[in-house]
Amino acid sequence: MDKKSSPKIYFAPLQESTDHIYRSSHAKFFGGADKYFAPYIVRQNDGTVKNSHLRDISPINNRDYPLVPQILAGNSADFLFLARLLQDNGYREINWNLGCPYPMVTNKGLGSGLLPFPDRIRTILEASLPKIECQVSVKMRSGLHSDDEIFQLIDLLNDFPLCEVILHPRIAGQLYKGAPDEAVFARVKAQLKHHLVYNGDIESDEYFSRLNVLFSDTTTWMIGRGILKNPFLPLQLKTGAQPETGEKVDLLRNFHDEIFLNYSKLLSGSSHLLMKMNKFWSYFCFVFPDPHKTFKRIKKAANIAKYDAAVSENFQRLRYQPDDIK
Ligand SMILES: Cc1cc2nc3c(=O)[nH]c(=O)nc-3n(C[C@H](O)[C@H](O)[C@H](O)COP(=O)(O)O)c2cc1C
Repeated sequence: MDKKSSPKIYFAPLQESTDHIYRSSHAKFFGGADKYFAPYIVRQNDGTVKNSHLRDISPINNRDYPLVPQILAGNSADFLFLARLLQDNGYREINWNLGCPYPMVTNKGLGSGLLPFPDRIRTILEASLPKIECQVSVKMRSGLHSDDEIFQLIDLLNDFPLCEVILHPRIAGQLYKGAPDEAVFARVKAQLKHHLVYNGDIESDEYFSRLNVLFSDTTTWMIGRGILKNPFLPLQLKTGAQPETGEKVDLLRNFHDEIFLNYSKLLSGSSHLLMKMNKFWSYFCFVFPDPHKTFKRIKKAANIAKYDAAVSENFQRLRYQPDDIK
C-alpha cells in the first residue's frame, strides 16, 4: 500500500473495553501503538473518584507502555482536581474529553455537551492551564448539534498551549452513524495551529491508505474499534507485515488467556466475568473466519466450563482455517 513512512498510531479509549488489563496485554502481545489513551475518569457528585477509575490509571497497573489518561470535566474546579490527581500519579500529559456524545453526559455540560459553549471552554482552560504542569491535549467531536460549533472554537483553541487535538469528525447526535466528515477534518486542519490527529472508523489498510492520500500532511491517527477487532492493526498499518499464521494464532490465544486470567482475578463471580468476556468477544470475534458464529458460541456459554469449550472451538477453527484469518 502507498504509505507514508512510520505513521503514529494512538489507541483510542473505550469505556468498558480498553481498561488497564486490556491495554497492558495489547502492548505486551501486539504493540505498535505510540500512545494508549485511558477511558475518562470523572469526579462524582460527592467530589470523589470511583475506585475503578483510580485503579485504571494507577501507574502500577500501567507499566511498560505510554499511557495518556483522560478527564471528563465541565468546570475548572473539577478539571484542576482531576488534572492534579493525574499529575500526582506522575503523568506528564493528560487528555480532556470534549467528545463523549451520550445525553447522560452531554446534558450535564460534559464531553461534547461543552462544544456549543466556547465561553465555558475558555474559562476552564484559562483557570486551569496556568496552575498545572502537565501538558494537555483535547479529544473532540465536531459539534454537539452541528459542525458549525467546531469552527467557533478554533481561534479559542489556538489561543492555548495544547499539546495536540484529536478530532473525531462526527457530531454527537450521529453517535457512530454515517461516515466521519472528511471535509470538516480538512477545514479544521487548515485553520488549527495545533498538531491534529484523525480519529474515526479506521479498520482496514484500504481505508487507511485512502485517508493518507486525502490528508497527506497528517502523521498521527487514533484508532479504537479497529484495534479491538484486529489487535494486529497498529503494526500492520505501520509495517505492512503480518506474523505467519501459526504465530498469529498463538499470539491471539495467549492474549485472550492473559486477559481472561487477569479479569478472573479482578472480578468477583463467574457471571460478571462472563459478561466482561462477552464484551471482549463482541469485538475480538472479528479476527475469526465467521465472526457472527464465533461470538454466538461465546454468548451461549452459561458457565465457565462451557465458555472454555467455546473458546477452544473458536481457536481450533481459527488454526485450521488459516486462509480466513485477516
Ligand atoms: C463503547 C465506547 C466507549 C467509548 N469511551 C470513550 C471514552 O471514555 N473517552 C473517549 O474520549 N472516547 C470514547 N469513545 C470514543 C472512541 O475513543 C473513538 O473516538 C470512537 O470509537 C471513534 O473511533 P474508532 O472508529 O476508531 O473506534 C468510546 C466509544 C465507544 C464505542
